[in-house]
Amino acid sequence: MNILILGSGGREHTLAWKLAQSPRLNNLYVAPGNAGTAEIAKNIPIGVNNFEAIKDSLLKNDINMVIVGPEDPLVNGIHDFLLNDPQTSHIPVIGPQKAAAELEGSKEFAKKFMMRHGIPTAAYESFTGNTLEKGFAFLETLKPPYVLKADGLAAGKGVLILDDLEEAKKELASMLVASKFGKASATVVIEEFLAGIELSCFVLVDGANYKVLPMAKDYKRIGEGDTGLNTGGMGAVSPVPFVNKEFLNKIHERVIKPTVEGLKKDNLPYRGFVFIGLIKVGNDPFVIEYNVRLGDPETEVVIPRITTDMVTVFEAVANQTLDMVDLKIDERTAATVMTVSGGYPESYEKGKEITGFEEIKDSLVFHAGTDLKKDKVVTNGGRVIAITSLDENFREALKKSYQNIEKLHFDRMYYRKDIGFDL
Ligand code: AMP
Ligand code: GLY
Repeated sequence: MNILILGSGGREHTLAWKLAQSPRLNNLYVAPGNAGTAEIAKNIPIGVNNFEAIKDSLLKNDINMVIVGPEDPLVNGIHDFLLNDPQTSHIPVIGPQKAAAELEGSKEFAKKFMMRHGIPTAAYESFTGNTLEKGFAFLETLKPPYVLKADGLAAGKGVLILDDLEEAKKELASMLVASKFGKASATVVIEEFLAGIELSCFVLVDGANYKVLPMAKDYKRIGEGDTGLNTGGMGAVSPVPFVNKEFLNKIHERVIKPTVEGLKKDNLPYRGFVFIGLIKVGNDPFVIEYNVRLGDPETEVVIPRITTDMVTVFEAVANQTLDMVDLKIDERTAATVMTVSGGYPESYEKGKEITGFEEIKDSLVFHAGTDLKKDKVVTNGGRVIAITSLDENFREALKKSYQNIEKLHFDRMYYRKDIGFDL
């Protein structure tokens, strides 16, 4: 089996690391990949949205399966593009078709899906430039804080949470009228604020069957104590200590089952990961958002806990035989801590040499934003390296990750020292 992974982050390095362990794998390719994937696979220097070039490399390298990491190419229709081309239609793609990727591509679409299928989520209404005044009136009926969401993809920045009504109105106008997030904010979802603790749930779906992956929790804010700006994610743990049997059962019955059934009822073609962003309010799960891919850095703690051969698992997704797979999970806890470039998530520099890899022991090193420059590993993004460790509980796992992180060096390296602080 020859496999191509699309993407260049920690999620893709982790998937590559896992697939590379399979005796059923022949050649592994990552496009565009990073310095970490280059060690275990062949990087192909093409962008994830360059569909024609992706097709050419599939044919040239005799690739038998494509695994899509990020949401962008899915929302842009990479699955449909390859499926509709007679030269590539036989190559399975792990990741939903465009119509189903709207679950992440449009917040309004996702809210309507949840309403239609009785899935618990915050009350909402959506507005456009033509209904701005109605949007103001709706805000006046809500209690603060106010949650404004750009409908479309906005690189993780499209959600604003505001304490002040006047500020919320100003931001609503700026999104709808002044195109604050470009086309992505031509429609805005305003929703009720939910207070609780968040967690990430991943379900692998083959269109007929599904498997629930281990739960994870990520830490999105840049600052300790969950303060400061939102990032892609600064660390993660799996499993999540506060998810007991009873709560897991509620997630299953109220959220996972109706989501998978809803995809079928609505004829949304889905073979891939559904990422359900949940919030626990009191003792009840509510859906904050859907993503149509794995999370990053959640992947860095979820995938290392899966002990089943991943080539077999993905093949079952392609063949709609996931029900035949026995998905085995390592009982231990995985924790990851992300090192980032100084300045991130605002502007930061790239190209800083990273040293100390050879001193890391007993942890997994996943590259998130790195590149090779004259045989040296250098920083190439805001999030740079994730260090994952497995142990009996999250405290021990984190201890290992922190011990190893101290051995890594690059100019202006930063990481949160309090991952897991709230567990
Ligand atoms: P999203 O991009 O939809 O995941 O939103 C980004 C972040 O905003 C989430 O991870 C939550 O922390 C927060 N958020 C989104 N919607 C709500 C809500 N209805 N209530 C409280 N927090 C929310
Ligand atoms: N860690 C959150 C995400 O991948 O969207």
